[in-house]
Amino acid sequence: MNILRRGRLQVKQDEDIMRFTSSMEADKRIFDADIEVDKAHVVMLKEQGIIKKSECSDILSGLGKIQKEGISALDASYEDVHIALEARLIELVGEDTGGRMHSGRSRNDEVAACIRIALRGELVNLMEEVHDLAATLVGTAGKHHDTIMPGYTHTQHAQPTTLAHHLLAHANALLRDIERLKGAYERTNQNPLGAAAFASTGFPLDRKRTTELLAFDSLIENSMDAVSTRDFMIESVSCFANLMTNLSRLAEELIMWSTSEFGFIELGDKYSSTSSIMPQKKNPDVAELMRAKTGTVHGALMSVLTICKALPCSYNRDLQEATPHLWRAADTVRSSTRMAWGMVETMKIKKENMRKASGAGFMTATELADTIVRTTGIPFRTAHHIVGTVAKTGKTPTLSLLDELSSKIINEKLSEKGLSEKDVKQALDPVENVKKRAVMGGPAPKETKRQIVVIKRKLVTTKGDINIVRKKIGSAAGKLNRAIK
Ligand code: ARG
Repeated sequence: MNILRRGRLQVKQDEDIMRFTSSMEADKRIFDADIEVDKAHVVMLKEQGIIKKSECSDILSGLGKIQKEGISALDASYEDVHIALEARLIELVGEDTGGRMHSGRSRNDEVAACIRIALRGELVNLMEEVHDLAATLVGTAGKHHDTIMPGYTHTQHAQPTTLAHHLLAHANALLRDIERLKGAYERTNQNPLGAAAFASTGFPLDRKRTTELLAFDSLIENSMDAVSTRDFMIESVSCFANLMTNLSRLAEELIMWSTSEFGFIELGDKYSSTSSIMPQKKNPDVAELMRAKTGTVHGALMSVLTICKALPCSYNRDLQEATPHLWRAADTVRSSTRMAWGMVETMKIKKENMRKASGAGFMTATELADTIVRTTGIPFRTAHHIVGTVAKTGKTPTLSLLDELSSKIINEKLSEKGLSEKDVKQALDPVENVKKRAVMGGPAPKETKRQIVVIKRKLVTTKGDINIVRKKIGSAAGKLNRAIK
């Protein structure tokens, strides 16, 4: 007999309808959290004198048994893990006791609490994985302060830079991703329990106690808000989507850099595939899939936004449909982060090819124009005109060529205004170019060295924050266990 439907409903659902409505598959993700939530609720019910001590201990030992049996032992014909678990509890300890667990509670506040607990674990693990990826980028950057490479705008050769500078750009983006994840964590780790269906309850619950026992940082006060909102989910998936975009951009570069045209890197064998017909091929499949899986996560964001956008308060069953998108997005972003880490960690860097490519495409044109401005005092726009005309000729810029063109453009020779052969030569040297760009955040080796010190300090702080959060969650588990004893 279905403990949920036996009163109000007469007709049994057929398999097709059950499958349509069930959340059992996705609920695998919240089974452990559900047991913790049940335990904390029951301990609090006993402390508040709502159930007897003996009832509390019988329910707790039943829950312990169910935890050991695992979700697969539950009756899968129930619509969700919460009611299936309660049914199993009643089977084990009888309805007179087991039937008291759900006092002062609804599945609405229960499921929100479970998702928040499971999600916070994903967020902490992801933060650590992003930290590790950023640390690897910084570690590689640290070996390439002097590795000259082309910098691009519009995927066209633009100005010379270094590999350190380029990799640090990605590391900085990841640091912001960590910041965003921290924010999402704060708003996820709040306790909805005690809201019941939405109107709270007449039982004298202690919401602060379940907050403490389940390591929530605070509680969501308004009980209608507590069960209605999935904004923490939208925020988390939006952080995932942002991070995936950053990962996808990195993946795209790894793919391009490993082509014969670029030849800047060779990806590790582990992260490569080959062709079933072309025996010579080494394909960057892991990076390509990372790029593609970005679509999965962006799709998840659109899904959760759209599912939630027109829901009236408070709980609506629609909310159940949002949760699987959350887990899919979390799994995808976490595995992608680990793949990115491994690819960066194992890739072979072809410094010589990067240096050679830096000679192509007249990437030193900006510095040449700047040098002309500094030595002759003509306006930058005029120097831009002259150097642009040099580029158009396709010839190697020399002082005499510059003089010839400037005579036509401004009726003056640059050499007569202070530009020397040595100035031109220096401006055309990619190494000198990079060395000059020592403005804060620029690619000059001494500047990228300074940037690394700053980033490393941030990474240490992040690691510390992660450890604090893990400790807090762990100590609450201890508190719950002591309360149970
Ligand atoms: N499986 C449901 C979900 O994920 C649990 C809450 C069900 N509540 C309800 N009133 N039917 O949202």
